[in-house]
Parts: sequence; C-alpha cells; structure tokens
Amino acid sequence: MFKRLQEKWKVSPGRLFLILVTFAIGGSLTGYLGRRIMPATGIESKAVYVPVYVVLITFIWPFMVLLVSIFTGQFLFFRSYLAKMGQRMGIGRTGSSSLSAKDGGTARQQHSSKSASMSQNNISPETRQQRTVKLAIFASGAGSNAQKLIEFFSPPALAEVSLIVCNKQGAGVIQIAEKSGIPVLMIEKERFFRGDGHLADLQSAGIDLVVLAGFLWKIPQSLIDAFPRRIINIHPALLPKYGGKGMYGAFVHQAVIGAGELQSGITIHYVDEHYDNGDIIFQTACPVLEGDTPEDLARRVHELEHAHYPRVVEEEVKKLAAIG
Ligand code: GRF
Repeated sequence: MFKRLQEKWKVSPGRLFLILVTFAIGGSLTGYLGRRIMPATGIESKAVYVPVYVVLITFIWPFMVLLVSIFTGQFLFFRSYLAKMGQRMGIGRTGSSSLSAKDGGTARQQHSSKSASMSQNNISPETRQQRTVKLAIFASGAGSNAQKLIEFFSPPALAEVSLIVCNKQGAGVIQIAEKSGIPVLMIEKERFFRGDGHLADLQSAGIDLVVLAGFLWKIPQSLIDAFPRRIINIHPALLPKYGGKGMYGAFVHQAVIGAGELQSGITIHYVDEHYDNGDIIFQTACPVLEGDTPEDLARRVHELEHAHYPRVVEEEVKKLAAIG
C-alpha cells in the first residue's frame, strides 16, 4: 500500500512518512475539536447530531491538516491535495475565462484532464482561455532558481511547474521537486542526444514551455525544433560576453572578475542550437566590486536571477497564452 501511495503521489519514502504523520495528527486534532465543539451547539437529538458533526468535521479537517502540514514541511503537498479534493467535490476554483496570473482559473487537476498540448495546437478557443500553461524546468544543480519559479507559479494559475527534468543523481533540485510534489524526469545521455531528446516524455506531460535553470547539457535539435522560441535559459553574465561551452557557474564569475569588468549581470534568452546564443529576452546588470571573489559575485547575480527570472518567464507564458 505504501509503495502504491508513493507512486501515486510521486514522493520519497521519507516524505510519504511525513504526509501520513500529517494526516494522522490532523485527523486526531479534528476529532478532538469536533467533540469539544459539538456540546456547544446544544444539539441532543442523535438524528441531527450525526450530520452536524460530519459537516463540522468536514470544515475543520482541511484546516487542521493544513495547519499541521506547516510544521511537518508538507504545506505545498496538502494545499494542492485539498485543492484537488475540492475540485472533485465541485467546490473550490474551477475554470475562469480570465487568464490573469493570480486569479486562478484552473488548477492542476482540471488542466491535466485537458492534457492536449499547446504544441499540438488542437484545442478549442474556450479551452485555450482556461488552460494553464505547463512548464518543465530543466535543472541539474542546487535548484534555487527552480525553487523561485515553483513558488512564483504556486498555486497554479496562468502557469504551473509540471515537471522537473534533471540529469544528475542527487542534485538539490530533486529534493525541491519532491517537497513540492512535482514529478521528476531523470534523463540519460544516450536518449537525450541520440534518441528523441526525451521529447515523447515532454509531450506526454503536455509541456508548453521549457525553462532551463542551471542545466549544463546542450539542448538537442529535436527539442529546439519541437519548442521553437519556447525554451528559455538564464545565464549568469551579460551575454554575448562570457558565454559558450564551459562557461558556467564559478567559471563565468572568475572570467568576469579576471577581465576587470566593472559590471556583470544576468541574461535571459531563447535557446538555439549553440550555447548561450539565442535572442536575448532580458538583461540586467549589477556591479562588480573591488575585491569581489567569484562567490561574492555569484551571490549578487543569484539575487538578480531570483528577482527577475520568474517574472520574465511569466511574460513568456502570457505570450503563449495569447497565441493559444
Ligand atoms: C544560475 O546561476 C543560472 O544562471 C545558471 O545556473 C545557475 C543555477 O543556479 N544557468 P541554481 O541551481 O538555480 O541555484
């Protein structure tokens, strides 16, 4: 049973344990509170008592599990779990005709039932208005940008992070994905470069937009063709300088400092068949200070990334949503 739950919720054994603990504590607290509150209603007739008790419990329970989930670190899981339950029961947010980022409209469950991919372009105008753009984040590092993107697009509204794609076992981003209840696709070299580039996996997940956030492998032509101007990368310097093969992480910052640059920054750009080469969408700069180490500069650049990447991705999402 545990294995089945793990697969269903796509969580690690440790996380499953925390989820079950949350259910158990939340359930016990609900029962306890229900028993304390009922006498205050003054209802004595058993025929009325039972339904009122059930209604009361129904309202207290979501609140209690959410509360407990804050302490067990499972808030995001339970928030989306309860949203799905609400939808199944016909309450909570359902489709909205507006695509405004924060007013919700559709949530994950509703969207997955309309899994036609935007790339397949076969959806009706009504469906287009309601659908949530699905993002895949490709990352193989610590995942701080992935984390910011997940937070920004939670709860899912205009867009949602539907998939984390990773090529490195043990990468920090995997844990981030697990904590957020987002499926992880571990990819392997042979299929990525010589097979279909895992295109089938992306298509079956209904991915509309690919967001690279610390992914070091070159994107194969098959994916570039399948996602024209729908693969975005962030680079920790002001391209076209300090980009290209081997220019990543500390190497970039070392080169910037070594060259005596007075400023560095970030570049967000579309991905084409060359490293760090596609059209630039957004750039912003920060100073390089005297005595800066690569770590100092990396910290400053990371702050810029966290502040701007989600917002820029959102702009791209809006463009996609407008095209339909
Ligand atoms: C970022 O600096 C980004 O510019 C580069 O890879 C780094 C990823 O950092 N492409 P993190 O894993 O998101 O913290």
